[in-house]
Amino acid sequence: MKNYLITGGSKGIGKAVIELLLKSKENFIINLDIVAPDIENSNLKFIKTNLENKDSIIHAVEELKDVHFIGLFLNAGIHINGSLFTSNLDDVQKVINVNVMANIYLLKYLRPNLEHGCSIVFNGSDQCFVAKISSFAYGLTKGAVAQMTKSLALDLAKYDIRVNAICPGTVDTELYRQAINNYAKKNNISMEEMEKLEAEEFPMKRIAKPEEIANLVEFLLSKKSSFMTGSLLPIDGGYTAK
Ligand SMILES: NC(=O)c1ccc[n+]([C@@H]2O[C@H](COP(=O)([O-])OP(=O)(O)OC[C@H]3O[C@@H](n4cnc5c(N)ncnc54)[C@H](O)[C@@H]3O)[C@@H](O)[C@H]2O)c1
Repeated sequence: MKNYLITGGSKGIGKAVIELLLKSKENFIINLDIVAPDIENSNLKFIKTNLENKDSIIHAVEELKDVHFIGLFLNAGIHINGSLFTSNLDDVQKVINVNVMANIYLLKYLRPNLEHGCSIVFNGSDQCFVAKISSFAYGLTKGAVAQMTKSLALDLAKYDIRVNAICPGTVDTELYRQAINNYAKKNNISMEEMEKLEAEEFPMKRIAKPEEIANLVEFLLSKKSSFMTGSLLPIDGGYTAK
């Protein structure tokens, strides 16, 4: 069996990756999420975990003590709108906890569980490369993910453990819908208009489907990407090529 750990696999991009990996009967997936997935499969185990909370992460790690992983998709993330000056500092801390600290704790505690040849994939963002208006907390965490990717890649290369990050543009998930809903309400714009405006930002004139992102994650988790480490890969319909 090949064991994979996925965070935030109950919805959105994480769920699309789980669905893709479950196509092979050889794969066993452990999903750490705060809500249960709506997928039933004997090759999928759900451990309810609040990634905002260190004790909850330690509890999950204890359950994983005998599991050895060939791949990790450190995907869970949350988003808030706002500049430093309009954001509540408790909310900023929460974004840092889920998007950065949870990954640090998991990697620190699960290091003995990583097999030789393991592939670690972070879910970054186009905000690994560029800043966006009113995206202070989220942007700062994605900058940290970019740096963690490179730093860990250097330190783990000698153990044949690879570390890469995908850097998606906008993807049609709950996180995106909540973000544009908040923005639309604040600025008195209809959701239809917001969707059009968002699509216009991308040279391909559309946003991504979670399945399109999952294909890249599967590639990075597999041996097909065996000489790739420390890479930040845009998958953004040309957004950061502008
Ligand atoms: N959707 C986009 O436009 C987009 C673009 C670039 C990068 N990303 C990144 O992709 C990743 C996944 O986002 P998504 O769009 O699939 O979001 P989503 O909201 O659809 O899914 C996120 C998952 O994380 C889980 N989660 C959230 N907070 C948690 C917590 N405290 N503890 C445990 N689980 C928690 C949720 O329950 C959910 O299953 C994030 O890191 C996000 O930053 C998303």
